[in-house]
Formats: sequence, C-alpha cells, structure tokens
Amino acid sequence: MDEKRILLVEDDPAQAALFSLELKRRGFLVESETRAAAAAARVEKEIFDAVVTDLRLGAGDGLQVLAAARASQPETGVIVITGHGSIDTAVAAMKAGAFDYLTKPVEPEELALALRKSIEHRDLLGEVRRLRAELKEGLGFSRIVSASAAMRRVLALVAKVAATDATVLVTGESGTGKELVARAIHENSPRRDGSFVALNCGALPEGLLESELFGHVKGSFTGADRNKRGLFEEASGGTLFLDEVTETTPGLQVKLLRALQEGEIRRVGDNHPIKVSARVVAASNRDLRKLVAEGKFREDLYYRLKVFPIEIPPLRERIEDVLPLAESFLKKARVRTGSPGSQFSPDAVRALGAYAWPGNVRELEHAVERALIMAAGPQIEAGDLPPEIAAGVSPAPARKPRRKR
Ligand SMILES: Nc1ncnc2c1ncn2[C@@H]1O[C@H](COP(=O)(O)OP(=O)(O)OP(=O)(O)O)[C@@H](O)[C@H]1O
Ligand SMILES: [Mg+2]
Repeated sequence: MDEKRILLVEDDPAQAALFSLELKRRGFLVESETRAAAAAARVEKEIFDAVVTDLRLGAGDGLQVLAAARASQPETGVIVITGHGSIDTAVAAMKAGAFDYLTKPVEPEELALALRKSIEHRDLLGEVRRLRAELKEGLGFSRIVSASAAMRRVLALVAKVAATDATVLVTGESGTGKELVARAIHENSPRRDGSFVALNCGALPEGLLESELFGHVKGSFTGADRNKRGLFEEASGGTLFLDEVTETTPGLQVKLLRALQEGEIRRVGDNHPIKVSARVVAASNRDLRKLVAEGKFREDLYYRLKVFPIEIPPLRERIEDVLPLAESFLKKARVRTGSPGSQFSPDAVRALGAYAWPGNVRELEHAVERALIMAAGPQIEAGDLPPEIAAGVSPAPARKPRRKR
C-alpha cells in the first residue's frame, strides 16, 4: 500500500509530537504545521491524502485551514479537533465541510481511524465518478467472445500476464477489442479491487494530458484554480490504461518513461516526487516499430512498454469469431431493448461471414444493432444488414456480385 500523506496542524508541541509519532507508527507520512496561515498556504500548494487540524490555533483557527483545503482540494477530507464540550464549533466545522470532528482528549487510534475513513471516502468518490462515467459511455463488463484459436491464444496471454505487474502493450487495428483486453487484464489481476482508469492520449493537447496524468498544483498554469491529483495517482493499486499511446509528444514520452522506470511522478508545478504504483497497460492501433524507425516514437519508451506485447488479430483473420460475436451482440441488444427472440437467416449468416470487416468487432456490433432495428419480423435478413455487408449475398442489379468487400 502507498503511504498516505497527512497534514497535521496543531500548535501544542507536546500534542503535535504525540500525534505525529503515533500516526507514523501506523504507517502515515506526517507533515506538521503549527500555524493556521502556514497550513492554509500549504494546502493551497500541495496535495495531502487527508488533513487534521486543531480548531484553536494561537493566532488563527482551524476553520481557516478547512476553508483553504475545501477550496483547493475539495476531495481531501479534513478532520477537525475541537475542545471539550464545544458543540457549536463542531457544528460550524461540519457545516463548513469538515469530514469529521473529534473532541478532546483525542486518542491516537481514534484519529488514525478517522483519517483512514476519510481517505476511503475520497477513494470511493473517485470510484463512483469513474463508474458513472463508464455507465454513461455504455462500456459495461461484457465477456470476451473467443471461438478462434487466435483469440484463445490472446486470452491465454491475458491470463498469464494478469497475475503479474508487468507493463503490457496491446496492439491491433481499430475496433479489435484492445480496451476490452486491457479491462480483462485488470479484472483478472490481483489489482481487480483497485481502479481501472482509462485515458485516451490522442484526445488531449500535451499540457492538458500532462496534468491529467500527473496532476497539478494550484496556480501552475492559467485555469489551474485548485490542486488536482493525476490519473497515475488515482490508479495507484489499480491499472492505468493508456490508449493511443503513440499520440503523445516527445516531451511527454520522456515523462512517461520516467514514471514507468522509477515509479515516481511529479505534479505540474511541483518538484516534490510522488511514488505511484499503477500498473500500466498501453494500447495502439499503429505500427510502433515503424514509428520508432521514423523517429516519431521514443525507442526507449517502446521497449519499456512492450515488456509483454499482446497483438489482437483483425477480425478478417479469425472469421470463426464472426458468428459467435454476432449472436452475442444480438442477445445483448435483445436484453437491452426487451425485444423478443430473433435470429439470423441463412443468407444473413452468409453475408456476415463473407464480409471483410475493416472496422472489426466494433463494426460488427453496430451492424447487428442496426439490423435488429431494421428487421420486420423475428428473422434478420441479409437485406437488414448495412448495404456494404448485404452486398456480399444479394447482388444488386446490373452489377457483378462481389465476393468480398
Ligand atoms: N472478443 C470480443 N468479444 C466481445 N466483444 C468484443 C470483442 N472484441 C471487441 N468487442 C467489442 O467491440 C467494441 C470495440 O472494442 P474496443 O473498444 O475494445 O476496441 P479497440 O481495439 O479499443 O478499438 P479502438 O482502437 O477503435 O479504440 C466494444 O464494444 C467491445 O466490447
Ligand atoms: Mg479503444
């Protein structure tokens, strides 16, 4: 497990020393501050896994620290320690967004428990956010259909590598199932209870990509109005899926290499190195060797990524998968739409088998969905399939029948 970094704000030196010692013994990394203003300045610049502050602090007070933390790192839980019998201040602290409050005298074990709870809460919030996003994208956890020997070989590799922490490079044409394979690796790994965090490297410009991956501190660039943890940190203990990894700039490739080699990252605007323990699965639909030869992708990163390569063959090279995939998509669509049983006609089956599937499994999935909508009766006819696929069996007049594509 990673060490959790705690900011302890306490002006009584004896109390601070005791908490610090006891929390360190329980595996926390403790940073101490004695004054509210200094502590507030730190939560604005650095990221902590949790903050604990005494309410009464000589010159200032703990609410100031709380407000600064809420503003600059809203996901970080703040625990407030109040004096004995001061219910009003405890209520005020909770209203201002404290995760919890403890009343003096505070036992170290009680404090450690509250800190663990607040960190767990933050992690769950992140998990919920990701799952919601996944549901929206309709990703789900569909099973991998594998009737062909080629696909069974892929799954055997998945099973082997899942047990390890090795970096995996998944390659294959667009729509062949790279992301599905990456998820399967995660779900079959000892990290399955951690997060699976996916990022499409081709979708963001360099600066944004860097801050997504590594996080940033407030003020590090225009618009950075709060501290943010990066995906490498969010995926600690889980799996980070770097899709379209070739779409990164040389500058970012250097940083990725360092993160992979040293297990350390630096947030944008912060020199403090942070240990991360995300397992990385990268994917690409491009010919990496060629990109390396052309000087468009760093050779050292290439070798670092392809510790364990998995290549998914295009669908046209494993036609045995076409029908089982089509059947499974049909079943899925029926479950989703609640429509009654339908099946492919012999002609439709032939059309599916004769087509070359340049868009691979994704194209097949869409074709089936469309056909189900088009079908007039319980049977899906060849003519219900998209025209370029149906053309394989129903020759258009005045044109020679096309055998493949
Ligand atoms: N073997 C399979 N069994 C079941 N579904 C599959 C299989 N392969 C792919 N799919 C489905 O096909 C669709 C495309 O797969 P995925 O997104 O993993 O492809 P990809 O290789 O990442 O594509 P791209 O390069 O375009 O990002 C998804 O809906 C996925 O669930
Ligand atoms: Mg993909």
